[in-house]
Amino acid sequence: MNFTIVPLRCGDGQRNKAIRLRALAADPDAFGSVLAEAQKLSDGIWQQRLARTDMATFVATTADHIDVGLIVGAPYDNEVGLFSMWVAPEVRKGGVGGALVDAVIEWARAAGHHQLILDVADNNRAAVALYASRGFVPNGKIGMLPPPREHITEHQRVLVLGTPS
Ligand SMILES: CC(C)(COP(=O)(O)OP(=O)(O)OC[C@H]1O[C@@H](n2cnc3c(N)ncnc32)[C@H](O)[C@@H]1OP(=O)(O)O)[C@@H](O)C(=O)NCCC(=O)NCCS
Repeated sequence: MNFTIVPLRCGDGQRNKAIRLRALAADPDAFGSVLAEAQKLSDGIWQQRLARTDMATFVATTADHIDVGLIVGAPYDNEVGLFSMWVAPEVRKGGVGGALVDAVIEWARAAGHHQLILDVADNNRAAVALYASRGFVPNGKIGMLPPPREHITEHQRVLVLGTPS
């Protein structure tokens, strides 16, 4: 499948909302956020997130202009984190997830950050393998999803970033 990775901009609030709600509905246990809460957010919130200069949101878009993947880079523990990673089931295992991760790595490095941090559930084999393929390693921090999903444990992973080329 041909796809392009593009940053969402001010004015793309509805695209941001649509793909994030689709992700939360399709793979609820991959995320700490829950669909019911996200559905309550105003259109202005989806828009405002795209206006922030300390965040970046990228989507993977097909040649037919259908958004099939999402990722967000945002502040996390005095560094920067990778959030909201999701690829539509019908296009998985085709390189979309890797391309989205690469986009956030590039964004974080260009912004001068030293580390890119993420949390991934221990039972999420696909995501763990994806992050390992990009060089993320566990840093020893262990967490869990919010109640009532505290049985889903997570290990934090970190990628140390080089200087911009
Ligand atoms: C995890 C996810 C983003 C992977 O997206 P994808 O587009 O299928 O990933 P890619 O095709 O780019 O794969 C890149 C690498 O990830 C790994 N990988 C991806 N899917 C995998 C799977 N099902 N099993 C094992 N490894 C897998 C492989 O190392 C792969 O490299 P390879 O193609 O050289 O083998 C996707 O499965 C997804 O959206 N899952 C549900 C949401 C989720 O779990 N988000 C992460 C929250 S932390």
